[in-house]
Amino acid sequence: MGHKIRKAVFPVAGLGTRFLPATKAMPKEMLTVVDKPVIQYALEEARAAGIEDFIFVTGRNKTALEDHFDYSYELQRTLEERGKLEALEAIKRWLPKPGQVASIRQQLPLGLGHAVLCAKNLIGNEPFAVILPDDLVLSKTPCMQQLVEVHEETGGNVVAVEDVPREDTKKYGILDVSSDDGRLATVKGLVEKPAPAEAPSTLSIIGRYILTPSIFGHLETTGKGAGGEIQLTDGMVKLLGHEPFHGLRFEGARYDCGDKIGFLEANIAFGLARSDVASELRRIIAALA
Ligand code: G1P
Repeated sequence: MGHKIRKAVFPVAGLGTRFLPATKAMPKEMLTVVDKPVIQYALEEARAAGIEDFIFVTGRNKTALEDHFDYSYELQRTLEERGKLEALEAIKRWLPKPGQVASIRQQLPLGLGHAVLCAKNLIGNEPFAVILPDDLVLSKTPCMQQLVEVHEETGGNVVAVEDVPREDTKKYGILDVSSDDGRLATVKGLVEKPAPAEAPSTLSIIGRYILTPSIFGHLETTGKGAGGEIQLTDGMVKLLGHEPFHGLRFEGARYDCGDKIGFLEANIAFGLARSDVASELRRIIAALA
């Protein structure tokens, strides 16, 4: 029923002020979890879901992101000359093909809804994915693949959700649901960052979306919302009642790498999930505890 999802938008224009001084001269999406920048986890998750076009909505001082996914002549040549063929092959395995990565500038920091709207011409008239690289998901089936499977069933909009403590609703987009089978919830309302007392539920959106192209027309007429920004959530509200809209309680654990503690936690969790470092890391944690 659903259209094949071929394109993903990565909003990466944010300044990362919560990570200063690390992010003074480096994009926050280049921060590493174990040995990989968070943007690479995001791109690999999209690719694992069958996505082939990666669109970065970027800003000034973010060229390291484009460089990371570009052919690196000096590095690849040096690895070859030194016979480090395994390292060379590893890079070749994950490097996107020419033409798969496109970058556009957001120009002004007007919010997530505005960032997604900037990708309108590159997306065209087909459903697409949005991945916020700050949210890392450790799961058996990549989180975006889980959303793609729901989109194939419903043909509509899908967001990944998880239950959060009520005091945290003010940090997220929150669902109001008309039905909920414990896995899939049918959405009838959405609110961006409601105060705990006003939140219609504690089901919060994490940074994974599949949206139909109707979102663009709605975003064009969406004014400033929470925090004085053009919110993606406010644009999505306008889809409700016209198109299917579901929240999926995804399988897996989500780590908020936009936050110091979440980032440290992600490093430990992803380290423990990696066979090359897990046992040593476990020993170190035990020694420190
Ligand atoms: C954004 C969205 C919010 C969502 C969150 C997930 O907020 O606006 O709806 O719940 O990402 O991480 P931000 O974290 O950019 O403030």
